[in-house]
Amino acid sequence: MTQTATLPHFDHTPTPYTGPSKAEVLAARTKHISPGILTYYKDPVMIVEGKMQYLFDETGRRYLDAFAGIVTVSVGHCHPRVIEAVQTQNSLLQHTTTIYLHPNITRFAEKIARVMPKGSDLSVCYFTNSGSEANDLAIMMARLHTGNFDVIALRNAYHGMSPAAMGLTALHTWKYPVPQGVGVHHALNPNQYRGPWDYDDPDAGAKYAADVKDLIQSATPGCVAAFIAEPIQGVGGAVMMPDGYFSRVYESVQAAGGLCIADEVQTGFGRTGDHFWGFESQGVTPDIVTLAKGIGNGSPIGCVVTTPEVAASLKQRLHFNTYGGNPVSMAQGIATLDIMLEDNIQAHAKEVGSHLIAGLRTLADRHPLIGDVRGAGLMVGVELVTDRTTKDPATAETAAVFERCKDLGVLIGKGGLFGNVLRIKPPMCITREDCDFLCTVLDTALTEVGGG
Ligand SMILES: Cc1ncc(COP(=O)(O)O)c(C=O)c1O
Repeated sequence: MTQTATLPHFDHTPTPYTGPSKAEVLAARTKHISPGILTYYKDPVMIVEGKMQYLFDETGRRYLDAFAGIVTVSVGHCHPRVIEAVQTQNSLLQHTTTIYLHPNITRFAEKIARVMPKGSDLSVCYFTNSGSEANDLAIMMARLHTGNFDVIALRNAYHGMSPAAMGLTALHTWKYPVPQGVGVHHALNPNQYRGPWDYDDPDAGAKYAADVKDLIQSATPGCVAAFIAEPIQGVGGAVMMPDGYFSRVYESVQAAGGLCIADEVQTGFGRTGDHFWGFESQGVTPDIVTLAKGIGNGSPIGCVVTTPEVAASLKQRLHFNTYGGNPVSMAQGIATLDIMLEDNIQAHAKEVGSHLIAGLRTLADRHPLIGDVRGAGLMVGVELVTDRTTKDPATAETAAVFERCKDLGVLIGKGGLFGNVLRIKPPMCITREDCDFLCTVLDTALTEVGGG
């Protein structure tokens, strides 16, 4: 029996929308915006207002945002303290570049250095405008610092869409047939749900890590510039790294003269609950950490954090980024990080995320379409399959569930190589009541689509 769920009460009245109609916006978008940029949903949603974990369309309808603008809105849409900081900075100085001194960029860098693991030397920041730019720069710095060229990334990874970042990305849906990824080698995806070594294999981490060692020996000159990976693959469908994987891989990479880069664009800032950074769950400290998305709660900020020694590699030439470190973006980043720490967002992500994952596991007991529920904190994936034994991806069913959730008031994400993973990564201010609502909606959608 399906239930009709009601969104938890929320005390906010959206401003009446007076702009162009949805049909007009869609027509203009079709004509003037690149066709390569996709919209979600058969009937795209037009979002005109956001408040904390909720979004409002042009009719004033409220949705639970369970995807946070693709894991970007970390502390809540239009969080009042973020708005205040940005408005104050906007009225003082909107733009200056790094050719002059400004306190915001240094204040933010100091704060980021303070949340890096204690005892690490990760203390120097280079701000960019996006995660792709941060990853490009991290790879170049690793090459300059080590004098090596080859880079190891993982299959099923997503690191961005600039030419260099696309070369690191390893999902065919996100790779154009153009020259890219020169010197990049993709290791086996350590996916314990679909790969050769599963969750029950206590040596899975060691076995997947052995592939990286073999790759270095067989596909490179035996020395590498870097290994880059997401601690939990985001676009790839919330694929978790097996225990002990990073420590073994880092050992092989460092033995081959390389640096280890953690792409924390999605997993950073407490989202995974147990730790502030995703890499900490693997007991390692990288040489370079790349940040974006949640760092700015929606402001276009990326960042490369590294040691003074690695950072010095850029001194051999001049390097410049017009908007990187912009005072308004920095004000937004500072306010966001302050809120994360003052409101203990990480503990909240752990508590509410555990509640969500438990609720999703209960759904898995009833719905054979659910093949796997995985994740940590508020970085969660639900993989749908047509058959739990063969694990055939339920791509069409995932699309139908995804559409139905939207109709019922929940906006979620979709990913994985086969488009069969529901991605749930909400603003981290989401409540237990919101998670219960989400599970009830998902239950209804799965019942309607899968008949479970
Ligand atoms: C893990 C990861 N790295 C890098 C990027 C690229 O970030 P951006 O879209 O800001 O260039 C993304 C974007 O989704 C990402 O998920």
